[in-house]
Amino acid sequence: MDKSNGGMGGKTVLITGGTSGIGKAAAVALAAMGANVVIVGRNQERSEATVEEIRARSHNESVELMLADLSVQAEVRGLAEEFQERHDRLDVLANNAGLVQSKRTETQDGIETTLAINHLAPFLLTNLLLGRLEKSAPSRVITVSSEAQRWGTMDFEDIQSRRKYRGFPVYGMTKLANIMFTYELAGRLNGTGVSANCLHPGSVGTNFGQNNRGPMALFFRTFKPFMRSPEQGADTLVWLASSPEVEGVSGKYFLDRKEIEAKSVAYDRAARRRLWKISEELTGLKVAA
Ligand SMILES: NC(=O)c1ccc[n+]([C@@H]2O[C@H](COP(=O)([O-])OP(=O)(O)OC[C@H]3O[C@@H](n4cnc5c(N)ncnc54)[C@H](OP(=O)(O)O)[C@@H]3O)[C@@H](O)[C@H]2O)c1
Repeated sequence: MDKSNGGMGGKTVLITGGTSGIGKAAAVALAAMGANVVIVGRNQERSEATVEEIRARSHNESVELMLADLSVQAEVRGLAEEFQERHDRLDVLANNAGLVQSKRTETQDGIETTLAINHLAPFLLTNLLLGRLEKSAPSRVITVSSEAQRWGTMDFEDIQSRRKYRGFPVYGMTKLANIMFTYELAGRLNGTGVSANCLHPGSVGTNFGQNNRGPMALFFRTFKPFMRSPEQGADTLVWLASSPEVEGVSGKYFLDRKEIEAKSVAYDRAARRRLWKISEELTGLKVAA
């Protein structure tokens, strides 16, 4: 295809969770606009098949795979290293991978799994790739949050939900963390030409929730036919990644291409800084003082 025609020609986009649902639909759309798309997957065979599917659907061969289990911090670090070895530019980083878990588990790093994948992985990956993003400015960081943020309480005393674990509220807390991270990042990146925004994609019929058994999986399976398609769910993400309308717009939370409000704690700078510090400690970006 003529990559100069789609508006994203010459741009490199990294999408986590590109093997399914919203991430895959966004990868197809951005590749169809001419972007060089790199998706992150964790299962080689399935991810390779997805890359072929994205190439075929977008009519763009420039779709690449990088393997990483985002629950493992060493693999997030490996991903950032491999990306920088292979690519000089990073125009758009889309932090999209995420999950909800009905039962509490811990990753091999000893961290509650929802927090590790939904918040700490994007926090670490973004920080490790800031050099590339700044070099490629104007560039964009987009994080897929959720209106489930409203069910979440930022419990700094028990951020790993050791004392009390309930799947949806913990998921909501991690999605609130996505917004707090975005607002704080936008402030820290002021003047660099790197923007940071986040979004709620709506209720989207994907594989979301299917990693669980019992009522939670049943809940998502039952409502899937009534939900948005992955393409509709990816619309705001693709718009934030590609539209000139949002060039220079930063530190905002969107639904259906319009800014919406987050829970009040997201506007509390002290709370955001506290989350940032805890995240630095939990990812080893900075050792606790
Ligand atoms: N669906 C909704 O209604 C909805 C609503 C609000 C927000 N969201 C958010 O939208 C984002 C995308 O979700 P989706 O609906 O598209 O769900 P999905 O179809 O389940 O896709 C989730 C993606 O995350 C990847 N992922 C999960 N754990 C991973 C890990 N440890 N390492 C690497 N990749 C991992 C999955 O990889 P595999 O293919 O290997 O499983 C998959 O590509 C999530 O952040 C979710 O919180 C969804």
